[in-house]
Amino acid sequence: MIIAIDGPAGAGKSTVAKSLARRLNYLYIDTGAMYRAVAWKVLTDEIELEDTTRIGLLAAESHIELQGSVDEMRVFIDDREITNEIRTPQISQAASIVSAIPAVRRSLVAQQQEMGRMGNVVMEGRDIGTVVFPRAEVKIFLDASTEARAHRRFAEEAQKGMAASMQETRAAIESRDDRDSSRADSPLLQAEDAIYIDTSNFTIEEVIANILAIVSQKA
Ligand code: DC
Repeated sequence: MIIAIDGPAGAGKSTVAKSLARRLNYLYIDTGAMYRAVAWKVLTDEIELEDTTRIGLLAAESHIELQGSVDEMRVFIDDREITNEIRTPQISQAASIVSAIPAVRRSLVAQQQEMGRMGNVVMEGRDIGTVVFPRAEVKIFLDASTEARAHRRFAEEAQKGMAASMQETRAAIESRDDRDSSRADSPLLQAEDAIYIDTSNFTIEEVIANILAIVSQKA
């Protein structure tokens, strides 16, 4: 079975997807980490974010790997570990920018399809139910109010000691939402057959229980 979890930043996708993978003993694939890896390389190599041709080539030539278990997923690009370095607000914005480049999406989507080919996978992202696995058995679109998402993201960033201000976190989330939803190639969009869950007023446990019930129905 393939479980696709899509939605905007801060909706709780990672927590939910990881928990599902752990409980079902499925492979967990964080596709956002792959766009973040490309963004990391672009910034490290000091490539202009406008240089879409070069960034497209870079995505095609780079070897991105997700290794390890659900709880200790490590991210590599060309054998260089970048697990922690890709979790900064700067990389979040850059990932959103490079992910709008069609050539980048083509390369990463092909890799994601290959990674999920064997099934029993929980894959999270923005276009899993619409583009990567349009025939996934379970499609969930996780959403939450901008307020709730900004609060969550701010708390996460504060814990890592890299929060700016609540206002800045909220503005960053909003600009990413706008860009991810308005790009021409595979925008963030709920698949027609996806189940919409607003996580603003539920605990993570309630959301997970809800999805597990959907999964067992399908199984
Ligand atoms: O899920 P995340 O915040 O780590 O994703 C970072 C960016 O990558 C996000 O702003 C948009 C892009 N992304 C995408 O376009 N498609 C995906 N399947 C996953 C992420």
